[in-house]
Amino acid sequence: MDGLLSGKVAVITGAGSGVGRAAVKLWTGHGARVIAADINLATAEETVALSGAPQGAARAVRCDVSDPDSVGSAVAFAVETFGRLDVMYNNAGITVMPVPGKGLRKLVDAPLDEMKRVEDVNINGVIYGCQAAIRRFAAQGRGGAIVNTASVAGLIGYGGVLYGATKGAVVNLTRSLALEVAEDGIRVNSVCPAGMLTHYSGMDPDSEHKDRILEGMGKAHPLGRAIEPADTAAAAMFLASELASNITGVNLPVDGGLSAGKKVGG
Ligand SMILES: NC(=O)c1ccc[n+]([C@@H]2O[C@H](COP(=O)([O-])OP(=O)(O)OC[C@H]3O[C@@H](n4cnc5c(N)ncnc54)[C@H](O)[C@@H]3O)[C@@H](O)[C@H]2O)c1
Repeated sequence: MDGLLSGKVAVITGAGSGVGRAAVKLWTGHGARVIAADINLATAEETVALSGAPQGAARAVRCDVSDPDSVGSAVAFAVETFGRLDVMYNNAGITVMPVPGKGLRKLVDAPLDEMKRVEDVNINGVIYGCQAAIRRFAAQGRGGAIVNTASVAGLIGYGGVLYGATKGAVVNLTRSLALEVAEDGIRVNSVCPAGMLTHYSGMDPDSEHKDRILEGMGKAHPLGRAIEPADTAAAAMFLASELASNITGVNLPVDGGLSAGKKVGG
C-alpha cells in the first residue's frame, strides 16, 4: 500500500491504548508494518485486531519499557518478523495518579514508589528505547528515525510537577541525542501533546460524558478543540516519515496553540 510510511517497519510502545493505539491504526493505514508493544499484551493484541491493518502488517508483543531487555526483545521481534527497523516510537508513559475527586496530586504528597515508577517508565523507558533502536540502526548501516512522546508539560509549567519533570527530560534528551546521532543519519524528534482523554491518569475515554469532557478540554486551547490521540499519532507519523527527512531535534507541540503563549489585548 502506498502511503507516508510505505516500506517502513516501526515499533510503537504503549500501543495498547490512547496515542499508541491511534498510531498503530494510522501508521499501518499509511503503509507501515508495525510491532504494537505494550506492558499489557491483551490490549496490544486488541489494538492489532481493531486497527484494520492489512493481514500480518501489525503484530503485538508484550514489552515493559522500564526493562531494557524487554525493549531489546521488542526490537528483535520487529527484525525477526519484518526483517528490519526503521522507526522507534517511544510513546509509553504514565503519570502519578490523581487523588480521586481532588485532581492532581501535589509533589509533596506524591508516593515515593509511584514517583520512581513514573521516572523509570517516562525517562528510562525512552532511553532504553533509543539505545535499542540506535544499536539496530547501526547494525543495518545508516539512518533511522526515533520519535518520542513527550508532553506540553515538558515545555511549559502545566501541572503534575513530577510528570512535567520527566517529560522535560525527554524534551532535552531528544535535542541532545539528535545532535549525537545526526552523523549516523539518525533523526530524533518528539511530539508534545496537551491533555487528551485517554486511560492515562485514570480517565475514561468511553465515559458517557465524553462529549462534555472534550468540550471542556477544548476550551483550554486557543484553537478551541480538545487534542485527540489521532492528532498526536499524526504529528508523530509526520516526524517518522521522509517528509521530515531534514528535521531533527524538534519537540513539536500538539496542543492547539496552548504553549504559544497568552494572547493579550483584542
Ligand atoms: N493523555 C494525556 O493527557 C497526555 C498528554 C501529554 C502526553 N501524554 C503522553 O502520551 C503517551 C501515551 O499516553 P496515552 O495518553 O495514550 O495513555 P494511555 O494510558 O491511554 O496509554 C498508555 C499505554 O502505555 C502502556 N504502558 C504503561 N506502562 C508501560 C510500560 N512500562 N511499558 C510498556 N507500555 C506501558 C499502557 O498499558 C497503555 O496501553 C504517554 O507518554 C503520555 O505521557 C499523554
